[in-house]
This record gives sequence, C-alpha cells and structure tokens, in this order.
Amino acid sequence: MRKPIIAGNWKMNGTIASGFILIEAFNSVLQDMELSCDVVVCPPFTAIERAVALTRDTAIEVGAQTMDYHDAGAFTGEISPLMLTEIGVNYVIIGHSERREYYGEIDETVNAKIKSAFHHNLTPIVCVGESLEQRESGHTLDWITSQLKGALVDVPKEQVSQLIIAYEPIWAIGTGKTATADQAEEVCKEIRDYIRSLYDDETADAVRIQYGGSVKSENAREILGEPNIDGALVGGASLVVDEFIDIIKAAN
Ligand code: G3H
Repeated sequence: MRKPIIAGNWKMNGTIASGFILIEAFNSVLQDMELSCDVVVCPPFTAIERAVALTRDTAIEVGAQTMDYHDAGAFTGEISPLMLTEIGVNYVIIGHSERREYYGEIDETVNAKIKSAFHHNLTPIVCVGESLEQRESGHTLDWITSQLKGALVDVPKEQVSQLIIAYEPIWAIGTGKTATADQAEEVCKEIRDYIRSLYDDETADAVRIQYGGSVKSENAREILGEPNIDGALVGGASLVVDEFIDIIKAAN
C-alpha cells in the first residue's frame, strides 16, 4: 500500500512573508486532520529556512525546487544538497520541465542529481513528461521511458523504491488543461510497468508516482482515485489555501 504524497511547487512566486501566511493557514487546518498522506511544500530558496521553522512538529515537510549535484565548489548561483540538508530540507524536485526548458537540465544531470540527493538523504521528486507535439505524434511513451532510462542509470533498486516520480505532461502545466484521469493513469501505469521491467515487482509496487499539470480541487479526487497515481505535484493551486487543502483532502 503506497502512501499518497501531495507536494506544492510554489515556483518563483511570493515572498518570505506570503509564504509565512500560506504555511500558517495550512498548519491551522492540517493540525486538526488525521493525515494519511504526505504533504510537502517547495518554496523558493529564500523562503525555505522560514518554511522549515514554521513546519517543525507539523505534518508538513519541506522540499527544494532544484539543486546542484556537487557538494561545494565554484558553481556560481547554485545551491548544494549539503546546503539544503543543513537547513532541514527533506525533498528536492529534480528535472522539472521548466528546468529542462529554461536552464539546460538534461537526463545526465537529472541522473547525477538523483544520486547526489540520495547520498545526502534527500528524497528526489523526479519529473518526466511529454510536449503536446510528442503526444500528438504518438511518442509519449517512448519519450517518457527514455527520460526514465537516462534518469535511473546506475540507481539501485533500493533507492528507486524510495523515489517519487512526477508525471507532468508539459501541455498541462500552468495551462488550465489537465490530462483526463484516464490519460494520466495510462501513462502512470506505463511508468510503473517500465520500472518493473528495469527492476522487479517489489520496486515497481513501491515507487510513488504523482500526476502534475493543472491539478485543482475540482479534478483532484478523480485523478487521485486512479490506481497508479499516488499523489500530485501541484503548481498554481498550491498557492491558494482552500485549493491546496482540498487537494490534500482528496488524497487523504
Ligand atoms: O510542479 C508543478 C507543475 O508544474 C504543475 O503546475 O499545477 O500550475 O499546472 P500547475
């Protein structure tokens, strides 16, 4: 039985002050709920330390939106896994399509970051997903399996079973267009089957697979009801208190 995981990716939005208000609002609702899913917020770097302080002794955990794979060195502008663990971060998003599109993230760096994250006891949330053109030309599954193959080179099964994979069709990110529950389930099942073919049943049955792409309160219940979807990676709706809470309730 896999525990669902709802993660909010705040992207480059808000301030330390607005993040404080959001987390306080989440805390006040979640403290009265019996949670049977994991809840993670991924603020911008500047708000992470405050987020960790505000979520101490709560059910909410904190993630980063990216990181470098080196521990330290001359990498201007980057943040290392050591810096994240030093301030109490538990999760890190790796290979988000926006990082791939705008900042040159490729499968090789995704792979290096996954290894580095595990080395530092950070749980990676690894994003994969196809463009509209790839979907329309029938290349969704080829593309996603090639992204996974590259991401998982020499990653042992013990780590893969701890991994979170986020299936995020690029055409559904921030567009208001959501994959239907059937479309999302089809790809998430393929992802699980591909992990099965690379590793074994135990690993495939353990790995948690999220859907991301315009998840909102109105579609969360249907999407999260699918058997191979174990949670959501939420962008825009994670910045709206009632929306994010309703998505958590749908997973609970
Ligand atoms: O990381 C989150 C995804 O990119 C989804 O973003 O919910 O705003 O479409 P969205």
